[in-house]
Amino acid sequence: MNSGPRLEGRVAVVTGGARGIGAAISTRLVSDGAAVVIADSGVNISGNDADPAVAPTFAAGLGERAVAHAEDMSVPAAAAAVVELAMERFGGLDIVVNNAAILRDAFIFKGSGADWEAVIRNNLSGPYHLLAAATPVMREQARAGRGGGHWGRIVNIVSTAGFVGNYGQAPYAAAKGGLLSLTRIAALDMARSGVTSNAVAPFARTRVTEMIVPANEAQERYKARAMKVPANHVADFVGWLCSEDARDVTGQLFGVRGRELMLFSQADAKHTTVCADSRWSHDGLTEIVNARFRGHFADLATDLERFNTEPDV
Ligand SMILES: NC(=O)c1ccc[n+]([C@@H]2O[C@H](COP(=O)([O-])OP(=O)(O)OC[C@H]3O[C@@H](n4cnc5c(N)ncnc54)[C@H](O)[C@@H]3O)[C@@H](O)[C@H]2O)c1
Repeated sequence: MNSGPRLEGRVAVVTGGARGIGAAISTRLVSDGAAVVIADSGVNISGNDADPAVAPTFAAGLGERAVAHAEDMSVPAAAAAVVELAMERFGGLDIVVNNAAILRDAFIFKGSGADWEAVIRNNLSGPYHLLAAATPVMREQARAGRGGGHWGRIVNIVSTAGFVGNYGQAPYAAAKGGLLSLTRIAALDMARSGVTSNAVAPFARTRVTEMIVPANEAQERYKARAMKVPANHVADFVGWLCSEDARDVTGQLFGVRGRELMLFSQADAKHTTVCADSRWSHDGLTEIVNARFRGHFADLATDLERFNTEPDV
């Protein structure tokens, strides 16, 4: 299968694939030989004012191996429709990139339930619905031996906001944290079909970084640094995850910031202690927490603090 371009004959869906990081990923997959369904409703950062011309215009620029789907991907019916489109137009579905996301930031004591619901629906339920529609097809294809058999790729674009965090990003961070969990479960559930599932936390100059409003000098520096980082390295790494060489890479959490590639740790017990008595006593807990855990507590540095270093671009 791979005598030509690395992804020749493979079919991908990239949500949010017409702008920013998603556009870079779609472009990369097409240049690697894949056919791509660009599922992008053309919404603004808050998820409103959809412009249905965004995806068709972008897809047209990528040529015959790109087709647009401009519906709202947070709606379950749109997920089924996009899978159908991939099957009808290109004959299968091998790669799913969940990249579409919106932002509605507010401190937790000020945010609205409606914003919470909208962000969770868009950034977490949308990816779930797409995986729920795509994975039965991918399993069936694996059984039928499509493209050499037992082959598929799921790439979920998460955010360091989901495991480091920022002030005022409750719904966005919670959705991205949930998407990381979903990545692991998909890796487990799809392992027997040879479908890998990985999460990538990107950093790149897009309209999202452009809208950062610095609250102090450190944040000004952060924004200036973020604005130097192009999206192509993220796309290159996603392209690699979709290649043969990444066939046994699954359930992992990566980060890409310019030329910097990160493999993040995932939650594990740092320290464990077993109570000698059958019940905890209050004073016993105070003693154990102070003696065994206190020096190892996770710090609460934000995303903007932790990644405020000069990027390699
Ligand atoms: N830019 C960064 O530095 C950065 C950092 C961390 C995480 N991310 C993540 O990377 C991904 C891409 O971000 P970006 O900066 O390129 O954003 P962007 O706003 O430039 O692009 C997102 C695209 O997704 C589309 N979209 C959103 N909701 C949709 C829906 N329901 N249906 C169909 N299309 C929809 C939008 O129309 C838009 O074209 C997101 O998941 C984002 O959370 C980006």
